[in-house]
Amino acid sequence: MGTLTIEYEEIPVAGFSKELTVLHQESMMAMEKAYAPYSNFSVGAGILLENGEIITGNNQENAAYPSGLCAERVAFFKLRSEQLTPIRTVMVVTRNQKGLRGASFPCGACRQVMLEYAENQETPISILMQKNADYFLKINDLRALLPFSFTNKIL
Ligand code: THU
Repeated sequence: MGTLTIEYEEIPVAGFSKELTVLHQESMMAMEKAYAPYSNFSVGAGILLENGEIITGNNQENAAYPSGLCAERVAFFKLRSEQLTPIRTVMVVTRNQKGLRGASFPCGACRQVMLEYAENQETPISILMQKNADYFLKINDLRALLPFSFTNKIL
């Protein structure tokens, strides 16, 4: 028998460092630019690089529903299409049609994609996921979100 434990920290937005406050603002701005006319559920993802730069993305939907893409993957693919520099932190924010900002946990496909970036760099990537408008859950290494994962090491 084995047991897996995921450690996380609950962080109030009011306690964010200056850097996280900027990441939060930029992620929210990206969320507001989401193209989500079908679900009316807007997602913003912000990637804080080791060099202090921030890359953002938002969900992009399509009339052919499966053709759309999640905010996290838009942000990660955008990053690697231009540069590949180490990532420090990822932040995910969401709001529904009513403006409610609830739990924002990345889907399985996004976890898989983010994991590969983490596998390809030396340092772990932390992730901050919105719990509600005032609190975030922080995991120090996002690989914890996808245990027993399929990675390029298996190939
Ligand atoms: N969505 C994301 O952008 N990220 C996730 O991790 C889960 C879901 C988007 C996809 C779709 O545009 C909308 O949220 C509703 O599923």
